[in-house]
Order: sequence, then C-alpha cells, then structure tokens
Amino acid sequence: MEPWQTIIEPFRIHSVEPIRLTTREERERALEAAGWNLFNLHADDVIIDLLTDSGTGAMSRDQWAAVQHGDESYAGSPSWFAFLESVQALWPFPHVIPTHQGRAAERILFSVLGGPGKVVPNNTHFDTTRANVEATGAEARDLPIPEAFHPATVHPFKGNMDVTALEALLEERAEDVPVVFITITNTSGGGQPVSLRNIRAARAVCDRYGIPLFLDACRFAENAWFIKTREEGQADRPIPDIVREMASLADGMTMSAKKDGLANIGGWLAMNDDALAERCRNVLILTEGFPTYGGLAGRDLEAIAQGLREVVDEDYLRYRIVSTAYLGEALDAAGVPLVKPIGGHAVYLDARALLPHIPPLEYPGQSLAVALYREGGIRSVEIGTVMFGRHPDGSESPAATDLVRLAIPRRTYTQSHVDYVIEVVMRVAQHAADLRGYRIVDAPPQLRHFTARFEPL
Ligand code: F0G
Repeated sequence: MEPWQTIIEPFRIHSVEPIRLTTREERERALEAAGWNLFNLHADDVIIDLLTDSGTGAMSRDQWAAVQHGDESYAGSPSWFAFLESVQALWPFPHVIPTHQGRAAERILFSVLGGPGKVVPNNTHFDTTRANVEATGAEARDLPIPEAFHPATVHPFKGNMDVTALEALLEERAEDVPVVFITITNTSGGGQPVSLRNIRAARAVCDRYGIPLFLDACRFAENAWFIKTREEGQADRPIPDIVREMASLADGMTMSAKKDGLANIGGWLAMNDDALAERCRNVLILTEGFPTYGGLAGRDLEAIAQGLREVVDEDYLRYRIVSTAYLGEALDAAGVPLVKPIGGHAVYLDARALLPHIPPLEYPGQSLAVALYREGGIRSVEIGTVMFGRHPDGSESPAATDLVRLAIPRRTYTQSHVDYVIEVVMRVAQHAADLRGYRIVDAPPQLRHFTARFEPL
C-alpha cells in the first residue's frame, strides 16, 4: 500500500464545461420563476448540480472513442453485440433487452407481471419503480430492515431487505407476488448497500415459494465495492466476480446505464426465463424499438459497453466511494444531521432533524433544498414527503423520513467543488432556525415532485 492519505481523482481533465457563477439575487428570481421546484430551474442557473447522479457523469476518452464506432444499423448492429458482450461479462443472463433508460425496463416488466391484486416487494422502491408498479394497479411494498428508518443508525448493509418480513408476506400472499425485487444500492433508503448474504437469504425465501428474484442494479458496482470492503471473506475478490455472484443469485434485473453504466443514457432488462423474455420483447417492440437497439442509438450502446468495463475498476471505485464519504464526513463532523453511514452515490441530509420546527406536511426537505440553492447555487433533491407523501387514493401523510440528497455525478466535480458544497451546507445549517415550510399550489396526480409548484409559507 502507498502511504498517502489523499485519494486523488484517478483521471485528468480532458475537456471542460464552464460553470456560470450567479448572484443571490439572480437565484431568488430563478426560484420564484421555478415555483420553488428545483426541477424547474434552468441548469445554467445552477453552480453545482447535485440533483442526480443519473446520466450526469463525465464520459472517458475511451467512451468518446467508442461513440465513433457506433453503428446505426437497424438490426444486428455490431454495437449491439459489443453491448451484449459487455453486459453479459458481468450479468450472464441469456436474455438482455436494451431500453432507453431504467424506467422503460421497469415499465415493460411490470406491464407484463403487474396488475390489480398483485404486490411487489422491494427493499425500497425507487420512485419510478413504485410508480410503474402502481400504474398497473399493483401494490409496491417496501420491506427494508428496521435500521433503514433511523437516519443516524450505523449499519454496514443498511440497504438490506427485511427477509423475515418478506417471508411473512409470501407466507400469506405468495400467489399475488409475481416477482421480488432488491435494489442495489438502496437509493431511496440512503444509497446504502445490500450484502451478498442478504441477497442469498432473500433468494432462499423466494425459492421456497417459487417466486423469481430480480435486482434493480443501477448502482451495482458501488454495491460490489461495499461488499468487497465490508463483508466478511470478500476482501480479496475482484469486483467483476462479486457482480457475477450477485447475478447468479437473481433471475433477472432492471438497469439504468445512466448510473453505473457510466453513460448519459441507456438501460436494460435481463432475465433467465424464455417465455417472460418473449412477452417483454413484444412490449419492447411496441414502445422502445427492435430488440437489438431498444431505445438506443448504436453509439449509446458503445458508450455503455465501454462504461461497464471502466466502472468495475478498483481505482475508480475507491475514489468514488471515498470522495462521497469525504463530503459526508465533513458535514457530519460539523454536526449536520445526515444518513449514516455515508452511501455510495450521495450524501443524504436529514431535513426533519435539522428543521424540527417545520412539520413534515410543510416539507422540511423542500425547504432545505431551496435554501441550499438560494445560498450557494447548489441543486439537490428532496426525498421525503413531497416525493412519497401522496398515495394513489389522493390522501397525504408524512413519508418515513424527510431527506435531501446531494447526489454526486461520476467523475465530474473536483475536491474544491466539494469543499465549496461543504461550506454552503454548513452556512445553511447554522441558520436552519430561520427557514420556513412550503405548501404545494399545483401538482399532477403522479410523480408530483417533478413538476409541482410551491409557495413559501
Ligand atoms: N432504479 C433506481 C434505484 C434509480 O435510482 C433510478 C433512477 C431508476 C431505477 C430509474 O432509472 O432514471 O434510467 O429511468 N434514479 C435517478 C436518480 C433518476 O436520480 O436517482 P432511469
């Protein structure tokens, strides 16, 4: 081991994108025009964009080179075979169905497997996954371990599924459960990893009831890194080996290549079952495209093929996980309440703990996210009562937690950008008592957090 404490970005910058610096007055005006919803901002009014790590990463030189190899043949493009080979090197499912992003894979799968009276368990559904389950009339049931509900509780695999609760659900309603899902890492639960042991235990329960297990594998490489560094007996295994073991425990997967595909767009659905794959491909052809390109251009398939080779690199993963922890640990040391331990792709601030004077139905997460933008031009996202508080019947109740996610785009920001974020968050936290809640003045029936308009109270 090298003696150095500083973990450097394992890349040099090859082309740059300007950041437009704004004033507080400009940001106040932008907020008002956006109805205090950060999704409505113009991105060039944002200084540091931590809204999402999805599709926002920097591609490598070799990915841009691969883009030039993109072959746009409608059927049987060489780019499709490059993509397939790269996916199956990690996820050897016989059926790989390319889609334009993760939610398209979800929509296809649940349109085939969902429906009224069905229930789909997951450690925690991501918002699009939940919406795609519910859009078919099925119920999306979250079964995380109890530790997941306590932001300050440290657990090495806080993303784990509550396998006892899964067993109880299957005991009662196995015939209504078409598939069990595990999300790696558990995004909505704080970017927390799931252990191999937990996936194995869930697999054993699924086997007892004859139900397929699927992985929502968006951040699989980060999850594998946590397994390597935290799970007993895994330290010496190469990352691709750990990924293939996760694959061997599942019957299929959905994937957004915008995360650990290191690409700006793309995804896939993969599985073992021939009959299910045929039904899914039929839906694919209706809505996404021919099975050798899905919703993607040949150049996108090439970028993903190369991204999947880079994302399992240990120097990359060490930098990725350590640099996320760098942000979280600095804020923790400053006394800012957050989800612990620090997750893989993001730091989750605990807005309910920081703003105890704002009740959940006045959206403390929204209030904190708006304050970070107003103060320093940082865009984050509320993951709480705005996102999850409204139910299919139109009623509203507080979500389990009110968090604000600072998601770190891959290979995009440097340590000085992160130091600036630390400074801004600390300033906002010092003045937390001055922040006020919000009310929603306009919202669509589904996925309201994307387009709702707010007013400060
Ligand atoms: N599953 C998980 C766990 C996700 O985090 C996402 C997307 C999806 C599925 C859907 O994939 O965006 O390609 O359609 N998460 C992004 C985020 C949007 O910001 O966390 P998609």
